[in-house]
Amino acid sequence: MSMLITGGTVVTATGTLEADVLIVGEKIAAVLARGPATDAATYAAATAATDAASSGPAGTGPTSNASADTVIDASGRYVIPGGIDAHTHMEMPFGGTFSVDTFETGTRAAAHGGTTTIIDFAVQAKGTSLLGTLDKWHEKADGNCAVDYGFHMIVSDVNDATLKEMEACIGAGVTSFKMFMAYPGVFYATDGEILLAMQQAQRTGATIMMHAENGIAIDQLVAQAVAAGRTDPVYHGLTRPPELEGEATSRAITLARVAGCPLYIVHLSAAQALEAVAEARDAGQNVFAETCPQYLYLTLDDLARPDFEGAKFVCSPPLRTADHAAALWRGLRTNDLAVVSTDHCPFCFKEQKELGRGDFSKIPNGMPGVEHRMDLLHQGVVSGEITLPRWVETCATTPARMFGLYPRKGVIAPGADADIVIYDPAVRQTLSAATHHMNVDYSAYEGMEITGKVAVTISRGRVVVADGEFKGSPGRGS
Ligand code: URP
Ligand code: ZN
Ligand code: ZN
Repeated sequence: MSMLITGGTVVTATGTLEADVLIVGEKIAAVLARGPATDAATYAAATAATDAASSGPAGTGPTSNASADTVIDASGRYVIPGGIDAHTHMEMPFGGTFSVDTFETGTRAAAHGGTTTIIDFAVQAKGTSLLGTLDKWHEKADGNCAVDYGFHMIVSDVNDATLKEMEACIGAGVTSFKMFMAYPGVFYATDGEILLAMQQAQRTGATIMMHAENGIAIDQLVAQAVAAGRTDPVYHGLTRPPELEGEATSRAITLARVAGCPLYIVHLSAAQALEAVAEARDAGQNVFAETCPQYLYLTLDDLARPDFEGAKFVCSPPLRTADHAAALWRGLRTNDLAVVSTDHCPFCFKEQKELGRGDFSKIPNGMPGVEHRMDLLHQGVVSGEITLPRWVETCATTPARMFGLYPRKGVIAPGADADIVIYDPAVRQTLSAATHHMNVDYSAYEGMEITGKVAVTISRGRVVVADGEFKGSPGRGS
């Protein structure tokens, strides 16, 4: 089966192009420039199109007159690579409960929001093996996902067996291992354990992902706050100061430098942490970082909302003040922040967040977001914080490159998977729990009005969402 997307503006990490996109089966067969080739990018695309079309069933040279079984009119819309969310937690055990999106509901919501691949975290429990953990996560995901998926591994038990198994994980397709400097007694690893894992990553070509907060110091601040009766959700933020994220980030960078392994700082929220990353990158170290929409749009004021409403915004690292958000937008422009992911980890307000009424330290950490990442970052284009190509680069192309999916994913080019989103940049929408598709009883962005919305999501050549309607099926994702 073939499909032709006509009339749209193709946006890639390197620029925009007035072109039609031909899909044959699950792959992009050609990118067909419309009209005369006027610049180098157009010429390159036209050449690629000519090459692909000469061996394919349809398509021609620089000016598109291809035909196909299905034609989708994308006039006035952007045609972008499907989003890649490199940080999600579906069905994650945490704080005595589980995040409420299953792989089925979470990937369906992702598709609605223009994300065609998620990379979730398999969570090693203490005393268990990495490969056994990976099997367990495949059991949860396989046959249930609406879009494609991959895994990172959370390493919470560093020992000789675990270190050996890291190599086997790479054989099984997992090349990135998350460790925690936070959460003592749960996921926390000592500096020595982190160094050992980093040395193994250096030997095997893996990447260490780091949750960089000084959990030992934070636990003291939390105990002091609770003992003094400061138990409202806002104290979650106040007991996790940005300095302790900056300190842990610097320490992780130092350990990675000693071990010689690549380091990827997850969910970076503090200006101090960004400064440490920028300094290391300027010095030529292989250090990368991601941030998340909640750190760009929400603040400590949300954590301070009355009547326990602040619990909806409890995540770690916590929301910061607005000056940190401004620094993060700048970091996205300078590439010190290379990726935007969601850290989607949804807990319902009722019965889950409520576990922490009277003691903020018992509120499960995490926020919903997988559905609105592409929209919220497009809003950054609308407000002039980032460019259109940068939107695509941070939300699709770089995550694909970072985690071994490129050039199969993250790009619109002949030979790539036909994971494509047709995005309407003019439609206005209001974010709300009443209309979202995530399996959670609140929206962190309730009532927020934004410009832009997904019109069509295509996953490996199949329309999975069109005009707000889900057309896919669980199990189609691989
Ligand atoms: O609060 C968060 N971020 N919850 C998810 C687990 C993690 O640390 O990524
Ligand atoms: Zn984390
Ligand atoms: Zn996370």
